[in-house]
Amino acid sequence: MNISVIGAGQMGAGIAQVFAVAGHQVSLVDISTESLDRGLASVQSSLARVLKKERITEVELATAVANISLHTDMAEGVSEADLVIEAATENVDLKLKIFAELARLAPAAAPLASNTSSISITRIAAATDRPEKVIGMHFMNPVPVMKLIEVIRGYATNDETTKMVMQLSRDLGKVPVEVTDYPGFVANRILMPMINEAMYTLWEGVADVEAIDTVMKLGMAHPMGPLQLADYIGLDTCLAILNVMQEGFGRLHYQACPLLVNMVTAGKLGRKSGEGFYDYSGGGKEMVV
Ligand code: 3HC
Repeated sequence: MNISVIGAGQMGAGIAQVFAVAGHQVSLVDISTESLDRGLASVQSSLARVLKKERITEVELATAVANISLHTDMAEGVSEADLVIEAATENVDLKLKIFAELARLAPAAAPLASNTSSISITRIAAATDRPEKVIGMHFMNPVPVMKLIEVIRGYATNDETTKMVMQLSRDLGKVPVEVTDYPGFVANRILMPMINEAMYTLWEGVADVEAIDTVMKLGMAHPMGPLQLADYIGLDTCLAILNVMQEGFGRLHYQACPLLVNMVTAGKLGRKSGEGFYDYSGGGKEMVV
């Protein structure tokens, strides 16, 4: 199949990688050439890890990379698409703009999926000419490793689109779980309050970063503590998701911790900016908050 992925960030690159490894032709689209180059480099380094584990051969690696083409022109990148997956920043206005463009540029038969973490699929669908073909395909980070795809049906999404996306997800070796369109869906509705509570726990001085993460790692068998995970996801993304839930449900319960708001305002976005609850500038991670 021809898969167009919009956005070459961490998630877009990971999504491009899993489709390319599965033998699909992937058009990776981004407005920035630097982002496209960085996206492709991250696919290459991720595949190099898989090669080291001898789970793919050098030929398979080269074939997967060759399956990915890079485009700064959206019209060119989606012209042949059998499916478009949008993985842009978690910003509602940006997503509405992209989907209105996709409706104009992608083949009429192509379903349009969003990797949004929390924004209403029904709202995104309303910006297009084909709401019945708009669906959420929420991959988890790191995409090549995590098995789950949360498949979100908007109000108008039809059975045909849902079945196609569920089957395609299984064909990638992932496990799709179908959910309905409510703020935060299931994954982030449950995950983000835990991360937010970890930040309140820190802010109120109950324990330090290391202690909070150690309690959750060793006490609950989580692979990462909540503050390390927040850095990994991106603090701006965590804040954006909490804001969508706060607005969507109107419950104080989802109000972002002031510490998170301050850190994002100060440009401390976690791993991607080099500093969040930990400092990544030296390659590893040191506690900073
Ligand atoms: N590409 C390819 N392989 C990768 C990889 C990547 N980017 N990152 C990790 N791996 C592989 C490693 O090679 C290793 O393989 P192995 O098991 O065969 O040895 C395996 O994954 C584990 O990696 P490491 O040994 O390097 O490190 P860890 O054991 O610490 O695992 C982790 C890293 C998989 C990221 C683990 O810490 C983890 O699962 N963390 C939690 C991730 C999580 O919760 N993700 C969901 C976030 S929420 C989300 O995405 C939703 C959004 O909307 C906010």
